[in-house]
Amino acid sequence: MNENLFIPTHVGIIVDGNGRWAQERGLSRSKGHKAGFYRLKEVCIYAKELGIKYLSLYVFSTENFKREKKEVDYLMNLFVKLYEEEFQELMDNGIKVIFSGRREPLPKKVLDAMDKITEESKNNSEAVVNFCLNYGGQTEMLDMTKKIVQQVIDGNLSVDDITLDVLQDNLYQKIPPLDYVIRTSGELRLSNFMLYQASYAEFYFPKTYFPDFTKNDFYDAIVEFNRRNRRFGGNAS
Ligand code: IPE
Ligand code: IPE
Ligand code: MG
Repeated sequence: MNENLFIPTHVGIIVDGNGRWAQERGLSRSKGHKAGFYRLKEVCIYAKELGIKYLSLYVFSTENFKREKKEVDYLMNLFVKLYEEEFQELMDNGIKVIFSGRREPLPKKVLDAMDKITEESKNNSEAVVNFCLNYGGQTEMLDMTKKIVQQVIDGNLSVDDITLDVLQDNLYQKIPPLDYVIRTSGELRLSNFMLYQASYAEFYFPKTYFPDFTKNDFYDAIVEFNRRNRRFGGNAS
């Protein structure tokens, strides 16, 4: 590992290309999701080893419920498997796991697994992995708006006191903004991922399908991040 690399605080990965990975091999889409699932765990641990404090993984969007029931059911079972088969390794690595997204209409078995993971890992402090599951950026802003309006109606907040900090505090999770967004598979879009948090993020779009996204590819992504010159609206240096 290059000691001189600057490590971004919060990295988001839009996990994409599982289906195409499988199709190119003549396999069912489920096989692609399974292969991607094992990469997810590897990516979580490698991010922690690199010193990335916050990793947000976009694994299922609110819109993904439009897919065939068979595929949705397969993915839901994988999320339960995350708890049953892979979670211990994240615990052993001191990783705190949190979730972003709406609970409705996730099945109870998935919600139970999510709740257990959250509770059991809540005191871990090496790194945070935020699974964006049944997540949509627009829905997050809608939910944020409702929470804030309710506080105003209840008399706990005045309209003049609504600041950017208040917006931030009412998102699904209190975590820093995204520094870097990686989307695998070559698609050049956000697909509703963390619209608010990505305001000043850098973007990287490797062509690699997620099941092929190795530690080396992740490392290369961080090297690329180090070539960027972030200005946040200020003057070029
Ligand atoms: C990403 O892979 C996983 C999810 C969105 C759940 P896709 O299933 O979107 O794979 P492609 O884009 O069809 O290849
Ligand atoms: C975005 O991928 C959602 C996730 C990675 C979970 P999709 O594959 O669903 O996005 P589109 O439909 O190609 O934009
Ligand atoms: Mg896709």
